[in-house]
Amino acid sequence: MNRKIILNTSEVVTCSGFEAKYGSEMSDIGVIKNGAIVIEEGIIKDVDKESKILEKYNKEEYFIIDAGGNSVIPGFVDSHTHFVFGGYREEEFSWRLRGDSYMDIMNRGGGIVSTVKSTKAATLSELVTSGKNRLDSMLKLGVTTVEGKSGYGLDLDTEIKQLKAMKEINKSHSMDVAVTFLGPHALPQEYKGKENEFIDFQIQEVLPKVVEENLAEFADIFCEKNVFDIEQSRRFLKKAKEMGLKLKIHADEIVQLGGAELAAELEAVSADHLLQVSEQGIDDMISKKVISTLLPSTAFCLKEKYADGRKMIDKGCAVALATDLNPGSSFTNSIPLIISLAALYMNLSPEEIISALTINGAAALDRAATVGSIDPGKKADILILDYPSYKFLPYHVGVNIVKIVIKDGKITLIN
Ligand code: NIG
Ligand code: FE
Repeated sequence: MNRKIILNTSEVVTCSGFEAKYGSEMSDIGVIKNGAIVIEEGIIKDVDKESKILEKYNKEEYFIIDAGGNSVIPGFVDSHTHFVFGGYREEEFSWRLRGDSYMDIMNRGGGIVSTVKSTKAATLSELVTSGKNRLDSMLKLGVTTVEGKSGYGLDLDTEIKQLKAMKEINKSHSMDVAVTFLGPHALPQEYKGKENEFIDFQIQEVLPKVVEENLAEFADIFCEKNVFDIEQSRRFLKKAKEMGLKLKIHADEIVQLGGAELAAELEAVSADHLLQVSEQGIDDMISKKVISTLLPSTAFCLKEKYADGRKMIDKGCAVALATDLNPGSSFTNSIPLIISLAALYMNLSPEEIISALTINGAAALDRAATVGSIDPGKKADILILDYPSYKFLPYHVGVNIVKIVIKDGKITLIN
């Protein structure tokens, strides 16, 4: 039997719970001073004060992991990324620095569509290799579960290739990957002015294949002015739901279209971005328990105003934070950057940020029952930090303070 005990912690931050934390619950992160964690076969068996754990368990029978007097927290869940793609868009970043907007670049045939060309040109094994390399660097930052989207294919074969790459990576990489089908991510040139026909194509040709081959757990769409409107988004997402996929939506990012309201209407698991969300949208999401996934590095890179996470939490939302890693709007996997921006520009507390990156990230992937907190029965996805308090996460600005990553009960990485 594979047994371990984590001892000599300053604190164990459990984030305890099996569902999302809403509003003020996000401040309750369940700190156990001098806590200890018992792990058996990769699953958390017990968590309590060290003195109690040592009374209950004979430590001679366990492999001991010494936390060195440091803080221990759940592994991070990055619940919104586009980590599988071909090529890069460094020129576009320079154009944006000169003042071109993200949507202008997209509308003149750059942006997402240019990554589509490079992704079409890449082989499945190239996508698997580059995707795994990206996950390697995310693991160093403490990410133990990640979500990844397709959407750089737009045609049947490339979408399937991207989804297969994620399925393959999920099998061969220690990180858990939740896969999202984002077929309607942009309009290909050949469909110019024919958005409805493109949605028909996605519904009739791509979606059935994705479902038949069991290639995705979630469906998503870029609901935005000059991309796909509310009616097109409703049509696509409704069909995806009927076919058994759970829903996400890129909503109210640049223009307020009512994406959050649509997410609530369709009982999506999450609505993401939300920079321009309406009051009604926030209220609807709360009443339908839709997670608000906020992506501060995208606002930072696009020089947009940040989503009002403070207001959302004060009103009672469950907020998750994620990187949105992609080659365009947010080419970063930096969890430390997300933490800094959320603290300094979105006015979230250290406790709220930790909930947003752990249990609420897990809830945004419908995985709050199995990951996202240090609770008996959950996967032993655990981080040992370099400092004795979780409060160093925002305080040590922009720096990775993860020392040891334990994934499925194994010491997977030491920084
Ligand atoms: O979440 N907004 C749309 N999709 C991505 C950007 C993808 C890209 O620029 O390649 C996002 O920001
Ligand atoms: Fe995105």
